[in-house]
Amino acid sequence: MDRRVFLKSATGTFCLAVADPVLRSVAAPAIPSNAVPLLFGVDYYPDQTEESLWEQDARMMAEFGVTNVRIAEFAWSFMEPAEGKYDFAWLHKSVDILRAQKIAVILGTPSAAPPPWLSQKYPEVLMVNDHGMTVSPEGRRFTCPSNKLYRQLSVAMATGMAKSFASTPGVIGWQIDNEYTLQTFGRCYCNSCRAGFQEWLRARYGSLDALNKTWGTAFWSQVYTDFSQVPVPLPSGGPPNPGMALDYYRYQSHANVASLEEQLIVLRKLCPNHFITTNNVPLLADTVNAYDLFAKVDFVSYDNYPGFASIHAQGGDSGTSLPLDLIASTIALMHDASRSIKGGKPFLVMEEQSGKAGQPTFSPQPDKGQLKLWSYQAVAHGAMGINYFRWDTARFGAEEYWHGLLNHDRSKSPGYGEVAQTIQELKGLGPVALNSSYRADVALCFDYDADWATAIQPGQPKVKYGTEVSLWYGSLWGGHIGVDIVDATQNLSRYKVLFAPLLYVVSERQARTIRDFVGNGGVFVTGFRLGAKDSGSQIVNLPLPGLLRDVMGVTLVDYVPIYSEKQGVKFSSLLSGPDAECHIWADVLKPESAGVLATYTMGDYAGQAAITKNGFGKGSAFYLGARLDPADLGRVLNIIAASAGVKPALQAASGVEVATRRAGESSWTFVLNHTSRPQSVTLEKAYKEQISGGTVSGTITLEPYGVRVLT
Ligand code: GAL
Ligand code: ZN
Repeated sequence: MDRRVFLKSATGTFCLAVADPVLRSVAAPAIPSNAVPLLFGVDYYPDQTEESLWEQDARMMAEFGVTNVRIAEFAWSFMEPAEGKYDFAWLHKSVDILRAQKIAVILGTPSAAPPPWLSQKYPEVLMVNDHGMTVSPEGRRFTCPSNKLYRQLSVAMATGMAKSFASTPGVIGWQIDNEYTLQTFGRCYCNSCRAGFQEWLRARYGSLDALNKTWGTAFWSQVYTDFSQVPVPLPSGGPPNPGMALDYYRYQSHANVASLEEQLIVLRKLCPNHFITTNNVPLLADTVNAYDLFAKVDFVSYDNYPGFASIHAQGGDSGTSLPLDLIASTIALMHDASRSIKGGKPFLVMEEQSGKAGQPTFSPQPDKGQLKLWSYQAVAHGAMGINYFRWDTARFGAEEYWHGLLNHDRSKSPGYGEVAQTIQELKGLGPVALNSSYRADVALCFDYDADWATAIQPGQPKVKYGTEVSLWYGSLWGGHIGVDIVDATQNLSRYKVLFAPLLYVVSERQARTIRDFVGNGGVFVTGFRLGAKDSGSQIVNLPLPGLLRDVMGVTLVDYVPIYSEKQGVKFSSLLSGPDAECHIWADVLKPESAGVLATYTMGDYAGQAAITKNGFGKGSAFYLGARLDPADLGRVLNIIAASAGVKPALQAASGVEVATRRAGESSWTFVLNHTSRPQSVTLEKAYKEQISGGTVSGTITLEPYGVRVLT
């Protein structure tokens, strides 16, 4: 998926002493070994900037207040102008100029965009898209993730950089590649990928018998008698075998992760004192499993562009219109995912929108206050630092209209002052707050198998995993409760509620985890299509909902895609309220041990159960068989959360976000007004407000896009 479809040596003065062992050794020699740098920087492109401007840029950046830059991630042409001929002199000069202004450097390895000499000499490295077309080497991310030669060339480039900069003062860390999942064509289908897939299948299944059985190759005479016969899911005279397609998605994810890890090994070895990360958009840009992608790097980096959502909000090229709070909640989901992917560890925003954003159409300049609001939103959800994209606005190239902190003529952009002020304020929060944790009472499941299997067989074209997860997250967002993102394979005992929409594939491990969670007192809330498939992507040989049937206390009467027909829902008991409409999908439920909380009102299934609640062990399990519209879903999910004892940190209007970070006895409650109107919030006690330094109590009024940090 690309952006348009988806709606990122300092000296001691920039260091914060923290006790994080992974980050302890990130510093360049001038930095004490127990320090993690404060990372409020900009993404900078000396390779795209006349050398005569470098000194002036560095001086201005220092004045602006940045601690660091991220550079070189698209500069392969300059770093290796011809095969094997490295030129890092220009980059050293840039690093030295920045260091003279006490600005530290994160270096990017450039494998997202190889130079023309490389694709001319080795055309076999080019990606082949899902229609079998070789992708032209004109943009970026046009190479194959499995191609051994391309991976060797990328590792050689990273090795050259690492050797040259391992002990260069000022260099503090690395970003490997750039956004593995953001590209026009999500997956590659070339001959290298086919060979790699066959090798991967051999290791995964051991025998062809196991593979044939799991995929069910008896269907359409697909029995493989040699691994070399296994194809990749390119267009054919019918849809691909769903088991094969799911394994192919897994393989493509694996190939990308493996290519990252090859660079990681070299960087770890040659630069033991530097931190290493990679930047991406997790979850909704979903071609690579984010839990795997970030497993071995030091921390997650996330690229945050709310402006894309603004384009949608204003009926941009998608023709859709998103309410403002859906934009805010989608960004919040990305932040929560970025924090949760490594078990709650603070993350870095590697790229944060700083002006009009887009290529080749672009969003408007964010309203006054929004850039500050979005920065605080990132920190509220667990960011430890932010780099703004980008320092200047390029006068050439595909992103000429991606506006940065300087305009095309290098004058200050409309957001310049606001971002400078925000950086000062956020630095003022201090190291303990910026590295504190975020404790959530509820978890929301994001599972890549369920996501990919749903994409392969949505059942009804409007059924989309990312949409369901965003919708459930957005519904909870209005309830002002903290949410972690999990894949439901880990211990869930610290959560009161686990929400898991559209869990189409349920592995045995997930079934065990969920059973234990509910048995020990947890509340499990799930939705239509639960457990229809096993991990091999076969339909379970059990009455639905399969492995979790006893936990849910229901058996499915039918699963019903809804097109132009109408279905209605009548609520009762705990969920009593106005009737709702059910669009897109209805699982019709027969209660075994469960109680009924809503029934369908129309057609053959009128009177049958739509929503149920089952007591199981010490906990309970809710099945939302009906696909509800957002407002009704929000009402239902928040009633269930409240009934499970989940309390909002503060009572506030919808459109006002509340998020709390904690460290020991200290806490920071961020109150964020995402609306363009003033909003009042009533506090139950007096707080110190960190930005103004004053004390607040009673009813406080936040200005449009206003922010308060309460301690
Ligand atoms: C990200 C990417 C950057 C830049 C930015 C604006 O996707 O990492 O290189 O392209 O968005 O498009
Ligand atoms: Zn390939």
